Amino acid sequence: MENLQKSFQSSFSAIFLILLCLWRPLKAKELIPIGVILDLNSQIGSMANSCISMALHDFYQKNSDYKTRLDLRTRNSNDDIIKAASAAFDLIKNEKVHAIIGPQRSGEARFIIEIGRKAKVPIISFSATSPSLSPTLNYFFIRTAQDDCSQVKAIASVIEAYGWREVIPIYEDTEYSNGLMPYLNEALEEIDTRVPHRVVIDPHSSETESFYELNKLKNELGKTLRTRTFVVHMTREQGSKLFSSADKAQMMSEGYAWIVTEGLSAVLRPVKNPIVLDSMQGVLGVRPMVPQGFEKFKRRWKAFTGQESTKSPLTLFGLWAYDTVWALAMAVEKAGITNSAFQNQNATNTISWYDSGSRLLNQILSTEFQGISGYFNLSEGQLVPSKLEIFNLVGHRERIIGYWNKDRGLSRDLVADKKSFSERKLKQPIWPGDTTEQPTKLRIGVPVKTGFNEFMKVERQSSNNDIVKTSGFAIDVFLEVVKVLPFPLPYEFIPFINESTGEPAGKSDDLVMQITKDKARLYFFFSIFILLVFSLSTSFTF
Ligand SMILES: *[C@@H]1O[C@H](CO)[C@@H](O)[C@H](O)[C@H]1NC(C)=O
Ligand SMILES: *[C@@H]1O[C@H](CO)[C@@H](O)[C@H](O)[C@H]1NC(C)=O
Ligand SMILES: *[C@@H]1O[C@H](CO)[C@@H](O)[C@H](O)[C@H]1NC(C)=O
Repeated sequence: MENLQKSFQSSFSAIFLILLCLWRPLKAKELIPIGVILDLNSQIGSMANSCISMALHDFYQKNSDYKTRLDLRTRNSNDDIIKAASAAFDLIKNEKVHAIIGPQRSGEARFIIEIGRKAKVPIISFSATSPSLSPTLNYFFIRTAQDDCSQVKAIASVIEAYGWREVIPIYEDTEYSNGLMPYLNEALEEIDTRVPHRVVIDPHSSETESFYELNKLKNELGKTLRTRTFVVHMTREQGSKLFSSADKAQMMSEGYAWIVTEGLSAVLRPVKNPIVLDSMQGVLGVRPMVPQGFEKFKRRWKAFTGQESTKSPLTLFGLWAYDTVWALAMAVEKAGITNSAFQNQNATNTISWYDSGSRLLNQILSTEFQGISGYFNLSEGQLVPSKLEIFNLVGHRERIIGYWNKDRGLSRDLVADKKSFSERKLKQPIWPGDTTEQPTKLRIGVPVKTGFNEFMKVERQSSNNDIVKTSGFAIDVFLEVVKVLPFPLPYEFIPFINESTGEPAGKSDDLVMQITKDKARLYFFFSIFILLVFSLSTSFTF
């Protein structure tokens, strides 16, 4: 009897203790309002939103002793700059948020950063990657993503590695895309690559319209433009339209080269739409390296979101959004943000508002931790660029053909290799048209002559009529020149020969005409002529 009473007493006191424990932290939690501005109708927006909810859940499960709780107020910007700006204004004025996560797009960010700066509310974007929005120039703006600058250098290295002397950028007319162009131009200038033409696509254009633009470009290619190398900087929605148009315009075929920036490549991996993938065969892409724990996180995220996850695939932006919430939750706790200072805020004591905003800002900037997306270090106002990977889209897979980092440039392998200065800095890609032949080579017309064979000789292999051998002094000089050129020069010899008869296909004048038809870029007559062309066309001195 006594025993029973004792155990009853002890279990009663245990329950009481548990209740006390549960009740105390609940009462002590301070709810801190935080704004979130996303385009929830877009794939990135809805995916990031679920990552944000998951981060909130995970963080406070792990840190249940924290005195503060982020209280998110989410607004849908609906891909509208005005809506996004008015949402920011409303969040700050009426909801009294202490920080805003978002906005999603670089174009929206420009206005909201300004509002945040005036109101002293930190604006933290994990997806506005345009280099024109610099955290060093915009106080109270923090970018929990890598800006697009480092990939520009990586793209320039790829272009240099293949010896392309001219490229054509294709981009949409948005803040996101326009912001990158000055940096791309600068990087291309450094490697002496020309931009003879550019194609700007209306961000709201339909597939028919982008098909029209590409057809216009293709016509130009036959006349005034000689390069067939394109750099595409676009968001996913517009990019997939562009590539299916390019496919229809037969520009995804042999002889063309396409490089896509992170805007498309960061979201490529989960593209489940086979039509889009089929039209992008042979494309090269550059993007930040996918962190190690990605697949594991993805499984957890799928379990967390359930049905929803099938609609919007998980991308790197989602990981950045997730880590952003963790960084903010830590900073809010450390900065000792309380709501009372804010609620009492009125016209005469804006000082406390200012204090709270700068305190939180400084705390976020000093936040460093091992996040899901990698080491999260915001001391420079944005994530320090990590390694980038270069991939080649083959079938429905992305084959990694190399890596890039700031110090080493391109390399075939992740770990430092001795051969990093060797000629082939990237693994062999499969180009559009399912070929390993590198596009945009220097095509050299070779006249088929009778006599003066010491200078130039074109002969058919008797065993196999298809193989044509070119030799002679002029060819030898050319090959020696190529060897000592300071840059790689991909070339091919095209004998000016009638395939069916084996006779010269025309006179010298006809051969020269091939240049205007863009069949050849250079042709041989005599060695003197080659020397002349080369000493004129390169700054190289013999
Ligand atoms: C605002 O500040 C003034 C002056 O300090 C004070 O009289 C007033 O009660 C304050 N209003 C609120 C809502 O706290
Ligand atoms: C974080 O970034 C800053 C600035 O680039 C750097 O000085 C610091 O060493 C970094 N912290 C760590 C732990 O790498
Ligand atoms: C090759 O020569 C034949 C016979 O002269 C001619 O009919 C044909 O058009 C030529 N082919 C080309 C591609 O010039």
